[in-house]
Amino acid sequence: MKLCIIGAGHVGLVTGACFAEVGHHVICIDNDQRKVDMLAAGKIPLYEPQLEELLSRNIAAKRLFFSNSVKAGVDASEVIFLAVPTPLRADGTVDLSCIEQVVREIAPALGAYRIIVDKSTVPVKTGEKMAEIIRRHNAASTLFDIVSNPEFLREGSAVRDTLHPDRIVIGSSSQRAIALMRKIYEPFSAPLLITDVNSAELIKHAANSFLALKISYINMVARICEANKADVKKVADGIGLDKRIGRGFLDAGIGYGGSCFPKDVATFIAICQQQLGRPFGLLREVQKINDTQLEYFISKIRGALQVLEGRKIAVWGLTFKPDTDDIRNSVAVALVNLLISEGVIVQVYDPKGMEKSRRLWAKTAARFASSPLEAVQGAEALVIATEWKEFTSVDLREVKARMQAWFIFDGRNLLNPSVARQFGFSYYSIGRF
Ligand code: UGA
Repeated sequence: MKLCIIGAGHVGLVTGACFAEVGHHVICIDNDQRKVDMLAAGKIPLYEPQLEELLSRNIAAKRLFFSNSVKAGVDASEVIFLAVPTPLRADGTVDLSCIEQVVREIAPALGAYRIIVDKSTVPVKTGEKMAEIIRRHNAASTLFDIVSNPEFLREGSAVRDTLHPDRIVIGSSSQRAIALMRKIYEPFSAPLLITDVNSAELIKHAANSFLALKISYINMVARICEANKADVKKVADGIGLDKRIGRGFLDAGIGYGGSCFPKDVATFIAICQQQLGRPFGLLREVQKINDTQLEYFISKIRGALQVLEGRKIAVWGLTFKPDTDDIRNSVAVALVNLLISEGVIVQVYDPKGMEKSRRLWAKTAARFASSPLEAVQGAEALVIATEWKEFTSVDLREVKARMQAWFIFDGRNLLNPSVARQFGFSYYSIGRF
């Protein structure tokens, strides 16, 4: 089928490349001409496993194209997907100006029946607003349908998540649109859930908020484990084996970050407050636990080292999760900022996040190492802030030989506590002993 994706960010690019991979003809639109040129040459402005290969293969096969013209995309395609940013405002509401702008551009370009599909994460009833804008700006009264098709891909495993999704949600009241959407997703063997537009929009916020809730839940359980010499990993396994609960998103750590969970939890709280006139107390608590988790972790470092000022501390990991170069709302970055503000000389290393981090600490004493071992050189403590697989294969004997004092603070429960202690480290983690 002929598809158009507006917005060549993480979601737009991955979706476009995966649609092309299963045989659709895809045109990706972005208003940044430099980005369009870069993408057309098969290069991507972000790190996402498998994405560059997928892009090159489908560009070469002439199934994937790039342009800066919304009109060109609308003319060439039966279905138009929106994957544009929906940032958070200071009051917890979502800034929909990008969506509104794009819809205003689509409306006059509609020459024949088109389906406009929203993939961006938006508050419930945004579909209704989109339809209203199109009606207002579509002088020819061309037929169209609005569909909500929320995205569940995770950065770092976005291609796999898109090609092999747990489910596909299609929200629409039009049988014509639903039939076309079914055809688009036919090559993906995943359960389809057909709903109305409002329910589909709500599914996204409810899903992300629930996953964030699981993380805050286990982070609080971790604190209780620590007070009782219990092991949070074992507790998570024990409850996660119950199929009604599931083991996913029960890894304790220094808290969730990134461009989705903090934003979506805040939005869901704001939606509840606006529409029901009362706060979503449960989610407020989820936020509170997440907001205090880093301080809880830092207090372990303070407790063990006593004085932080002037200490040399290595930090492994800067990205908000492994397998990405994304440092937006990264708890690891917040951690480095806190250490710097306390006078620590920080030596950082991240497999993919160095480039984007450099400008953050250009005017500080922070040092940027080119390997995990270089980062620990002369350090008195090592902090693990992101659970990159690469860190598990670093030789701890070598780490110890390079350090001046032997403390490890493992904020992601990455290492085996008894192994770290066998090497002579004072090892601290989250909810394990
Ligand atoms: C999240 C959702 O998982 C996706 O389903 C959704 O499509 C996406 O948001 C979105 O709304 O676009 P993402 O933010 O890319 O995906 O990454 P996650 O893997 O969900 O991780 C989010 C944060 O939670 C990270 O900081 C991670 O370290 C943390 N986390 C995750 C934990 O602390 N513990 C866990 O057990 C799992």
